[in-house]
Amino acid sequence: MRLHATTFALTALTLVACSKLAPRVDDAMVAARAQGAVAGYRTALKAELGAAIAKGPVEAIEVCASRAPALAIEHSQGGVRVGRTSAKLRNLANAAPEWLGPVMAQLATSPKGSTEGRLVPLGGGRFGYAEPIWTQAACLTCHGTAIPIDVDLQLQARYPGDAARGYREGELRGVYYAELDRSAAKR
Ligand code: HEC
Repeated sequence: MRLHATTFALTALTLVACSKLAPRVDDAMVAARAQGAVAGYRTALKAELGAAIAKGPVEAIEVCASRAPALAIEHSQGGVRVGRTSAKLRNLANAAPEWLGPVMAQLATSPKGSTEGRLVPLGGGRFGYAEPIWTQAACLTCHGTAIPIDVDLQLQARYPGDAARGYREGELRGVYYAELDRSAAKR
């Protein structure tokens, strides 16, 4: 008993000492790291898509298809992986990791337009982070209920199993997400 108590005291002391030397990475720091990575990806993608849409929706499809995945890779750095996904996919390569299913269902019922993200512990020091993407008027040309014929033909040719249609303004279109280890927040 005595030994146990001493061991416990020593362990506690060591923990206190260590936590002073290396401050604990708390969940808020993990969330901030994930948020930063997602913000970088989101900003870059919005800028490129905005410029492409200004040239016309058919041209913009090419940009969506090639730049969205390329930018996700570019912004996945320092132990953080970022991506963009949805419950109704256009491109199956954007399929959501399993933990995101329930998170997307929850976010779909959150106040429309809310930008609040969710941090989800995945076990073993890993975390997932997700931020809602809401359908705006500009998205309807390619994701709405009345897609113009030239855009539609192009989409059908490229994405035979396209499920990302029939959206209305204000609905949850999907999420930006990140996956990271707690240790990635220290970098
Ligand atoms: C010019 C057509 C076009 C417009 C406009 C457009 N998208 Fe897309 N969207 C696409 C294409 C094409 C893909 C598939 C990209 C790929 O291959 O990764 C896609 C994929 C996505 C995905 C990834 C999940 C999936 O279904 O594969 C999300 C999320 C998304 N779009 C959201 C939006 C939002 C939000 C808007 C409006 C702000 C928008 N899109 C506007 C064409 C468009």
